[in-house]
Amino acid sequence: MARMTVEEKVGQLIQGDIGTITPEDVRKYHIGSILAGGNSDPGGKYNADPADWLALSDAFYEASMDTRDGGVAIPAIFGIDAVHGQSNIVGATLFPHNIGLGATRNAELMRRIGRVTAIETRVTGMEWAFAPTVAVPQDDRWGRTYEGYSESPEVVASFAPAVVEGLQGKVGEPGFLDGEHVIVSVKHFLGDGGTTHGKDQGDTVLGEAELARIHGAGYPPAIAAGAQSVMASFNSFNGLKMHGNKHLLTDVLKGRMQFGGFVVGDWNGHGQVEGCSNERCPATFNAGLDMPMAPDSWKGLYESTLQAAKSGEIPMSRIDDAVARVLRVKMRLGLFEAGKPSSRPLGGKYELLGSAEHRAVARQAVRESLVLLKNNGGILPLAPGQTFLVAGDGADNMTKQAGGWTLSWQGTGTTRADFPNATTIFEGIRDQAQAAGGQAVLSVDGRYDTRPDVAIVVFGEDPYAEFQGDIPNLLYRSGDTADLDLLKRLKADGIPVVSVFISGRPLWMNREINASDAFVAAWLPGSEGAGVADVLLRDAKGGVQHDFKGTLSFSWPRTADQYANNVGQDGYDPLFAFGHGLTYAQPQEL
Ligand code: GLC
Repeated sequence: MARMTVEEKVGQLIQGDIGTITPEDVRKYHIGSILAGGNSDPGGKYNADPADWLALSDAFYEASMDTRDGGVAIPAIFGIDAVHGQSNIVGATLFPHNIGLGATRNAELMRRIGRVTAIETRVTGMEWAFAPTVAVPQDDRWGRTYEGYSESPEVVASFAPAVVEGLQGKVGEPGFLDGEHVIVSVKHFLGDGGTTHGKDQGDTVLGEAELARIHGAGYPPAIAAGAQSVMASFNSFNGLKMHGNKHLLTDVLKGRMQFGGFVVGDWNGHGQVEGCSNERCPATFNAGLDMPMAPDSWKGLYESTLQAAKSGEIPMSRIDDAVARVLRVKMRLGLFEAGKPSSRPLGGKYELLGSAEHRAVARQAVRESLVLLKNNGGILPLAPGQTFLVAGDGADNMTKQAGGWTLSWQGTGTTRADFPNATTIFEGIRDQAQAAGGQAVLSVDGRYDTRPDVAIVVFGEDPYAEFQGDIPNLLYRSGDTADLDLLKRLKADGIPVVSVFISGRPLWMNREINASDAFVAAWLPGSEGAGVADVLLRDAKGGVQHDFKGTLSFSWPRTADQYANNVGQDGYDPLFAFGHGLTYAQPQEL
């Protein structure tokens, strides 16, 4: 640091997005970090080749180490939303989103998921995952409910350290922050899941003790597990934007909680601080944010921050503290000696993306995430050698079963060909039925020629992310009954109906549940759709392959306005309670 100019110090604290910053910019302005936002890809291609990602990582790294203008070579660090596997990359293993993982209650599995995610992230040259989200969603209208493991602070607190250690490795043990691990950003600090009406980026209004007890639950165990960065949240706390909240960012997180890593901002979140813009915000640095995420505003923010550092509007002591925090993390990560990403241990080992071993972890996660809410007459598990009608627009639909944050920000606009290492729910049922001498016929609209023995109807929410997923109540599809009508048609034909519901949150589904003989909450399962068949179908000899294991980590509503009905609250009266989940031994007549 003693050798660094103030220009180099300020550059170290700015993160630009690959959609607007070039390697030449990184070299010229000594920028310390780049990110790939949900819609930022090499060449603007959402399904870019993994090799193009790695080449881009190399270019940015080499630019950051170019000292032709003199100065200190400080490697840039590349962050990405590897939030359910390295989900931006074609062929990567896609894990169930966090709401499904919460239903497994299997913290040890979270560690393995973190490990696999870190490996696949390193293959394409990034050293940083913007995960885990330790939000504790309290209002299911929030478009990011599915990014939370649970409405229960205890479940989130039990998962956070496991995911941190999976991604980073275990402090003090071999492997910690080595070339097969990445740094984390525990997010979003603080109160992201507690906004009024579940409005994304809204205001979280409650006492600080309740804020800590509910929304802070994941941070102490994550920090104790060695989390190297924390991401500040868009939301306000009692009217004050978190990106400008000195009490919580500095006094609490860095002081009371002794957090020694660095605080990264969210996407121009600093621009929402009173008196700030995306290009100018001394207040966020003075509040304790160390590295604003300045996707398209990085140049203006660099210039204004440099000016504020020179004028003393941001004290040099604050600049130096932030730079020291960032450099310490880069040193712990071994970035100074690592060489370019493609030359590192996992760089370019594309066979690891969606490898059989990795997909097996995801398939186990799918199995353990499924929650059985109804099983009248013990219709499940199904003998596989029958004739199945597999209906609904989620049956053979990778886009739907993967959800948001998949190849693109909203997870939309993708095709089956974008998922070479994956199985749809239909494909899983088809393969197991055929292996047992049965058959599965795909019919999205449920119409059939040959009368099936059983209908499996896969339907649910279309992908969304962040505020684009905010809804006014828990009516499914705002009350549209197309899926309900399909279920009723099949029931009217006397065909047993098994519903598999794809969603990023519990919704009011009483009518669809009543029209089903069995009803399974499948959440957003990701690439391993075959994990659903592993549980629904018996094995070829008629035995149980895998019984249901999942239990609700979010309460299931009795009415469409029971969106903030969480375990432990007064007047708690859900349709299915937190912790509910049937097994084959417990068929329940509903
Ligand atoms: C988004 C999200 C944050 C993500 C970041 C980078 O707006 O709030 O979770 O890590 O921007 O994509």
